[in-house]
Amino acid sequence: MPLVSMRQLLDEAAKGGYGVGAFNVNNMEQIQAIMEAARETKSPVIIQASRGARSYSQDKFLYHLMLAAAELYPEIPLVMHLDHGNSFETCKSAIELGFTSVMMDGSLKEDGKTPSTFDENVAVTKAVVDLAHKHGVTVEGEIGVLGGIEDGHGAGGSGLEHVTDPEQAVEFVKKTGVDALAIAIGTSHGAYKFSKKPDGSVLKMDRLIEIHKRLPHVHLVMHGSSSVPQDLQDVINQYGGKLKPTWGVPVEEIQLGIRNGVRKINVDTDNRLAITGAIRKVFAEQPEKFDPRDYLKPAREAMKKVVALRMTQFGQAGHASDYKPISIEEMKKFYAGQSAAAK
Ligand code: 13P
Repeated sequence: MPLVSMRQLLDEAAKGGYGVGAFNVNNMEQIQAIMEAARETKSPVIIQASRGARSYSQDKFLYHLMLAAAELYPEIPLVMHLDHGNSFETCKSAIELGFTSVMMDGSLKEDGKTPSTFDENVAVTKAVVDLAHKHGVTVEGEIGVLGGIEDGHGAGGSGLEHVTDPEQAVEFVKKTGVDALAIAIGTSHGAYKFSKKPDGSVLKMDRLIEIHKRLPHVHLVMHGSSSVPQDLQDVINQYGGKLKPTWGVPVEEIQLGIRNGVRKINVDTDNRLAITGAIRKVFAEQPEKFDPRDYLKPAREAMKKVVALRMTQFGQAGHASDYKPISIEEMKKFYAGQSAAAK
């Protein structure tokens, strides 16, 4: 199966009332872990690469690994998505390379740190939408600002400084025409999200529900959605790691989100934890080992388990063959028709 558009995956998820995990990658083992989990659970897949991942891997390597994934797992609809594009140029280069979906994170200025104004965000996102849709490529925008920093990208903070304003969300979608909308509801990137199990004072699910009520047909995206499970933390600390006590986003809150318009759920940290724990275990228990395969295989297996579990919890499991993929060429026509109708 060729790489497919994220718009189609999310439209189908909306019809079926489920969510789709979007998992970050930097290398071959992570892509293999996701594809194996997808095959096992029969799930459609979104694989995403940040700017950091693109520069770490020289993105051509990642691109060709994705093509290999599409070839080796022909039964799985597979989206290649740019996570947190910081500028028009970054999104353009991803589209030119062959990504089938891009995120223009105009909530921050091009430095990837400083919150932008609403008008700046609208202008850059709209420019990316115009370009991407001409190429049949999906666009995710962001309104409000997430907390934390991931791969050098982020405003820092707890995530409560710039919670999404529902009114602005409506205006943003109208002015930009994005296919999916990331909102800020108190989550943040990384392992340190909450200092105890989050309640409504720090994880604003009410806000999400309010936004969904005003934008019932818009695909919402939850970033910073790792659950940071205790068992994954424990493995790391048991084998010499030094994670401080921390809490992530409980899966039941994500499921509440899915019942209220969330179609894409971003997960990176949980997989990083699983990989690190598995590698630490081999290093601690078998210090004589030095073949990278001896620790990368268990690392890949540990990540696969987490991804398969999330695919089941988000509801995408079993939906890989529900629909025939729409080609990117056909998506170009779809968007052209949409903009003609809007005139
Ligand atoms: P986590 O750090 O919670 O996994 O979030 C990842 C993310 O939102 C990527 O954009």
